Amino acid sequence: MILHTIEDVREQIKNWKKEGLTIGLVPTMGALHAGHLSLIKKSVEKCDRTVVSVFVNPIQFCPGEDLDKYPRTLDADEKLCNDAGVNIVFAPSPKEMYGEGHILSNDFLTYVIPPYFYVDKLCGKSRVGHFDGVCTVVNKLFNIVQPDYAFFGQKDAQQLIIIKKMVKDLNIPVEIIPCPIVREENGLALSSRNKYLSEEDKKEAFVLSRILFNIKACYDKGITDVKALTETAYSFLNEHHNLEYLEFRDKENLEGKTVADKDTQVFIALKIGNVRLIDNILLG
Ligand code: PAJ
Repeated sequence: MILHTIEDVREQIKNWKKEGLTIGLVPTMGALHAGHLSLIKKSVEKCDRTVVSVFVNPIQFCPGEDLDKYPRTLDADEKLCNDAGVNIVFAPSPKEMYGEGHILSNDFLTYVIPPYFYVDKLCGKSRVGHFDGVCTVVNKLFNIVQPDYAFFGQKDAQQLIIIKKMVKDLNIPVEIIPCPIVREENGLALSSRNKYLSEEDKKEAFVLSRILFNIKACYDKGITDVKALTETAYSFLNEHHNLEYLEFRDKENLEGKTVADKDTQVFIALKIGNVRLIDNILLG
């Protein structure tokens, strides 16, 4: 069943709560692919009822980003969800989520702001305000759906770490379930933004996972010096790749590492043409 209003969702949730059913939430921006479906599958297995939100959240896009051209495929998304056993697809409009005129500046909207230490690095550095928008919408979705469990992909590792921190700091009564990255056969992590890649770009795009898998292989052989591990990446890069960052950080608190260990996560962001791609790997 597809619902577009907060009131309709609340009505349904109230009934499920009365029956003592557990509720899983999978927040998405739609254009669903096998990565999203792996989260949905986990929720359907674990919970009595599953809600998938499909909402291209305007407040997490920075000026000049792809808000207008972000792929919107609601009919196909609804069908995929129905086939996967989802109980509610919640697809609100920006007006439903943010009110009349949907005034989006923080002069007029209460935001949830994650700590500076978590957002001044990696994607937060180039996407200023992005994680404020993510935390605000995810918090709103938690309040609307009141899930027992919420499912997030390791693909967006900084987002997952920040959401776990928000849940802890704000005592939100939900358990966050991290889900592994789903990849294409050539290693490319699935992403709705892969739709922007030409066939030619796609061939270049698997460089991200190649770099990460190679770093992991070197770490497994005993190389732990981060400088040496970083240098292994350069032989994979060519003029098509515009590296934004390649960083080694703690998997929980994002502190930088100079020596890699089992708690080290390696994060990469790279542009191919105009398409910005991210990926990561845990060394331990
Ligand atoms: P979106 O990019 O649609 O992703 C929704 C969820 O699917 C996120 O938890 C993301 O990490 C997960 N996901 C995407 N690709 C994946 C892959 N290849 N393997 C495993 N999981 C994958 O992330 C967002 O939307 C938004 O920021 C959102 C949390 C919905 C807030 O608006």
